[in-house]
Amino acid sequence: MVSTAQPTQTQTAWSKAIPPTSTNAIAQPIKEFGLTPLSVISGAIPPGLRGSLYRNGPARLERGGYDAQHWFDGDGAILGVHFSDGGATGAYRFVQTADYQAEAQAGRLLYGGYGTMPSGSLWDRLTKGTKNAANTSVLALSDKLLALWEGGQPHALDLQTLETSGIESLGQLGGEKRYSAHPKRDPQTGEIFNFGVGYGKTGILHVYRSDKTGQIRQHNAIALDGFPLIHDFVLAGPYLIFFIPPVRLNPFPVLLKLQSYSDALTWKPELGTQILVLDRDTLAVVSRGEADPWYQWHFGNGYVDPNGVVVVDIVRYPDFQTNQYLQEVATGKTHTIAQGTLWQLRLQPESGKVLAMTELLDRGCEFPAVNPQEVGQASRFTYLSAHRPGIDISQEMFGAIARFDHQTGQSMTADLGDRCYPTEPIYAPDCENSDQGWILTVVFDGKTDRSEVQIFASDRLNDAPVCRLALPSIIPLGFHGTWKPN
Ligand SMILES: [Fe+2]
Repeated sequence: MVSTAQPTQTQTAWSKAIPPTSTNAIAQPIKEFGLTPLSVISGAIPPGLRGSLYRNGPARLERGGYDAQHWFDGDGAILGVHFSDGGATGAYRFVQTADYQAEAQAGRLLYGGYGTMPSGSLWDRLTKGTKNAANTSVLALSDKLLALWEGGQPHALDLQTLETSGIESLGQLGGEKRYSAHPKRDPQTGEIFNFGVGYGKTGILHVYRSDKTGQIRQHNAIALDGFPLIHDFVLAGPYLIFFIPPVRLNPFPVLLKLQSYSDALTWKPELGTQILVLDRDTLAVVSRGEADPWYQWHFGNGYVDPNGVVVVDIVRYPDFQTNQYLQEVATGKTHTIAQGTLWQLRLQPESGKVLAMTELLDRGCEFPAVNPQEVGQASRFTYLSAHRPGIDISQEMFGAIARFDHQTGQSMTADLGDRCYPTEPIYAPDCENSDQGWILTVVFDGKTDRSEVQIFASDRLNDAPVCRLALPSIIPLGFHGTWKPN
């Protein structure tokens, strides 16, 4: 049934696209669906859009009256949308991790997560591991889809049906077998680079170089300063670059199960941002540097300019309040102000020295992305989720997607309209015309309580979408996805 209820003081329009907890039980239960033809609401699927869109995000935050305490701790579910000459079909499935199945069996949440303590007595908590939520991103390989979560191993899924086949080790995952949700694929060689943060006397940065099948062919382990939180990194020409924000974990209360990982993180601006430049071929350290303190979840892209200077695009936050905001999202009601904006940084790779850092766009944004064929190379356009102008960012989710043009300094915006919320914009190259690309986003409409796929021409974001596809159920707002061409 379509609801036309207005949002109330305790219910935001976007909260219906957040998995329910017992505290925001007004949100609707999430429904999976198997391969289903998707009907066209308006427009037509472009003939050059052939392949699959995959998206990941938390889809369950409550079980048996027990609530996850952070948005990052919801059970991951994957949306797949396959575009063919016959039209579009979609499927939406939870990742069937062993922990998900154990909690389903128990009828309640059992395990802790990033911001959630395990349930039960202190003894129960001490004997329980952390749940692999499999909820952050996806990596599409030729024969499988990987559901990624930075605190553990990937899970492999069927590319069509999204059935889970099990844990994926990729050959040589080191340390505690963590594989971040932000791998970088070189569009020219097909090589895949990624990292995972392990723990010893200090944090240990495990860096991986894989062939195009995903198998790890090279690994390096680098000691870190303390126990930092590292979410993303940069591939820029011949370099892999880590900007390590001044957030540090106190591991002892986490090991003793007295505090969640998130609660044991502290913002320490006095440490500044630490920079680590690696050689992508040897994975050896080229240089180390330091810069002002800031926090980032995500980088847009990186490349080396004709003068040998590394250029990096970042969504930069002044501090770590963003973590508090993301924790509040799980309740369906946010109040913390945390605004990230698009910045560009210039770095001398031989010394690790930051030469300049400039704000490009003073509008709240996240999820920066480029054409996947330009990763690691100069890219004229950055695509982003963005706030609509004039809204209260402490209480709203992103309501627009934008394209920033690095050549002109101008941005073009698709404003999704009142109470409509897009997910991260994903660039899909046209398979018939290399000059053409499509921006795919999944939109929750808070006016009708429905989700749909919207397809925009990448160079005409300010026009109406070229196609809208109805989805059989609400797809909760999530994190990251990918495009896999046929
Ligand atoms: Fe991320």
